Amino acid sequence: METRDQTVFNENIHTKNNTASTPNYNNPAFTDHSFSEAERDALYQTIFSRRDVRGQFTSKPVPEEVLSRILTAAHYAPSVGFMQPWNFILIRKDETKQRVHNLFKKAHDEAADMFEGEKRDTYKNLKLEGIKESPLNICITCDKDRTGPIVIGRTHIKAMDLYSTVCAVQNLWLAARSEGVGVGWVSILDQKKLKQILKLPKRVTPVAYLCLGYVSEFFDKPELQLAGWLPRLPMADVVNFEEFDKTADDPFATSLLETLEQNQRSIEDGQYRK
Ligand SMILES: Cc1cc2nc3c(=O)[nH]c(=O)nc-3n(C[C@H](O)[C@H](O)[C@H](O)COP(=O)(O)O)c2cc1C
Repeated sequence: METRDQTVFNENIHTKNNTASTPNYNNPAFTDHSFSEAERDALYQTIFSRRDVRGQFTSKPVPEEVLSRILTAAHYAPSVGFMQPWNFILIRKDETKQRVHNLFKKAHDEAADMFEGEKRDTYKNLKLEGIKESPLNICITCDKDRTGPIVIGRTHIKAMDLYSTVCAVQNLWLAARSEGVGVGWVSILDQKKLKQILKLPKRVTPVAYLCLGYVSEFFDKPELQLAGWLPRLPMADVVNFEEFDKTADDPFATSLLETLEQNQRSIEDGQYRK
């Protein structure tokens, strides 16, 4: 049975009676360019059920056909000045994975010392990588010189090429989830040593070291949330008006914040659980 929150969420997120063949032009939330409800639902389901995967990888290989779709989705990400600064380095050899895993082990021990007391114990018990268990690792890199020194849009904020690469990471992560493939991002690594292992030129930054593979399960919530490390922030804490950290209490703002709260409650209650 649908709860009240789920009904509200449906009304908020879904365009009622909207299918690809019979667009509902009477609904103000629908335009000629909107997806059908089912199509849109699939996108939101992908977003809300995507997880960072560490301990649930199976050894089942990712077929070439699936991998090709995931990589293509990544390559079709937006990028500043259309510079497409990324490379996707596929790491299949146990030997390379072992070398990266050694980097992780060292950095992980160093990181543990940065936390205190109970947090340190919790940190030590968290599984924060699946380098060796996952059938495939992918390093996504950013080549800041891909299209020369002057790039439209990067003239004043130099990190835009890195942000573009992160867009490719997110495309890959979501495409993988829609294929039932888990992805885990490993960032507890000595970046310089990682560059040496993968023979990256000086101008190239390793942005994301990812573990990929089919999984025994996708958790409903982030592992860090389940472990009590941190909670999901309420949207009212992060949606501001006009200035940083500033709220508003006009009718539009009040209604929007209320709707966001309802949406969030229904997601946390398991809407889109798959
Ligand atoms: C930039 C970035 C780096 C991350 N590095 C790690 C990591 O080193 N190890 C790990 O276990 N998870 C890592 N994560 C995953 C986050 O912990 C995870 O996204 C967050 O807890 C929310 O969980 P979810 O992705 O399942 O929604 C990273 C995520 C991002 C975006």
